[in-house]
Amino acid sequence: MIHFHLNGKPQRVAADAHDSVLELLRERLGLTGTKEGCASGDCGACTVAIGEPDRQSSDGRLTYHSANACLMPAHQLEGRHLVTVEGLSEGDDLHPSQAAMVACHASQCGFCTPGIVMSLFTLHEANQRRPAPLTPERLEAALGGNLCRCTGYRPIRDAALGMDSTPGHRPSWLDDASLAVDVGRSTNEAPAASSAAGAVPPFHQPRTLDELVALRAEYPEARLVAGATDLWLEATQNLTDFPRVIDLTRVAELTAIDEGEDTDGRPGWWVGAAVTYTALEPLLAAHYPTFAHLLHRLGSAQVRNRGTLGGNVANASPIGDTPPVLLSLDAHLRLVGPSGNRDIAARDFFLAYKKTDLAVDECLAAVFLPRPQTGRELKVWKLSKRREDDISAVLGAFAWRLDDGRMINVRLAFGGMAGIPARALGAEAALEGKAPSVEAFAQARDALAQDFDPMSDVRGSATYRRHSAAALLERLRLVIARQIAGQITDGTDPLQQSVSDQEVMLHAYAH
Ligand code: FES
Ligand code: FES
Repeated sequence: MIHFHLNGKPQRVAADAHDSVLELLRERLGLTGTKEGCASGDCGACTVAIGEPDRQSSDGRLTYHSANACLMPAHQLEGRHLVTVEGLSEGDDLHPSQAAMVACHASQCGFCTPGIVMSLFTLHEANQRRPAPLTPERLEAALGGNLCRCTGYRPIRDAALGMDSTPGHRPSWLDDASLAVDVGRSTNEAPAASSAAGAVPPFHQPRTLDELVALRAEYPEARLVAGATDLWLEATQNLTDFPRVIDLTRVAELTAIDEGEDTDGRPGWWVGAAVTYTALEPLLAAHYPTFAHLLHRLGSAQVRNRGTLGGNVANASPIGDTPPVLLSLDAHLRLVGPSGNRDIAARDFFLAYKKTDLAVDECLAAVFLPRPQTGRELKVWKLSKRREDDISAVLGAFAWRLDDGRMINVRLAFGGMAGIPARALGAEAALEGKAPSVEAFAQARDALAQDFDPMSDVRGSATYRRHSAAALLERLRLVIARQIAGQITDGTDPLQQSVSDQEVMLHAYAH
């Protein structure tokens, strides 16, 4: 039985361990305003808002983020406030996000409209709490996960820009302090395991790392879930019935970011495995802006609000976006099991396709990001068929430092080039200690051809991957050459905006 709040009212409902929020709404509760388009986190038709106590504020109110209902396990609603499009209006009084969509004629067939309204709702409420200009970047970030096939985005954009000045009605539950108190209380009282009448496979919700370790040891067959943005595709696309699920999102230690040191004594941050991309972004924006930029290529707001760094690592996909970056940063991982913590270098974690160093009774607890050293650079370039919300064909993450004109501690890590995210050790050796010359990079590209034997698949042929990876190295040479020439002085990378992948590739073959 799940206890949560739905559109301002308490709710109790039974659900299977593999049910999504979308199935719960449409099939068990008869609320069909939330639509199913792709059932894979791509279209945003199923967007809902999730309300939780605001950790950054002491005003006791809830904060709302958008989520794809198709990929959210229903049991993760426990102790949270679910808002659907049915909850925004009261009678004929529309919320400003709805009123603006009407005023701008931003709906045609209407299939995408509930999801777009919910994304606008979270944007509007965020602006009510912390007013900030609606820049094109903010609009893109908020609406990038909502597709519309018929209206066109101009009127939707107009609605977004105009909703703060559109007369509208705020539903009464938004300012209901007792709702926030109820949700906060039930968040703290969420049960360690929920099940109904013995017939429903259990969905465990441990609250501490010790509880998690005990559950993991007792149920090694259970699936671990945090953001579910990848795992739940098994339920929606393969119709997998998970026999048992352990939810990581309630484990306090896994949702924290702590300053500290790794086993080598390097200062940095331990990022809990269940920290979402959205929660991680401010830290990355302050210290690793190119890594922060990648988050916006990795997935929509709905995905960033729920997906986690730890999930991307533990998933061990060869085309996961963040593992190559972690390899280039010499990140460490903390694994936890019955015999305690085990810290290992990220490079030792990935063993073979989807196979990691995690023992069956262990969990990934945290990822250590070292504090950037003075002069050390990081570049991250992702190649995918779509710019937004797409999976990598090839991703390159490169770190280095220039010392007296020579490249030091060169790290060249790639995704999509092997069965695991991996460093190009031969190419690194070709550049280590060398000046970033045309000749040195030509040798690095030759070595790169020996480092990897990529596969062909739907995202790119082996030939495309080989040539693209070589072109990314050439892009790196151009960036370093411009830095040395003083043409890049403010830490930004004009090539990222102004040079197409094809242009860089042509450059690569000119040498
Ligand atoms: Fe398309 Fe959920 S139905 S994102
Ligand atoms: Fe038809 Fe958007 S109005 S899909």
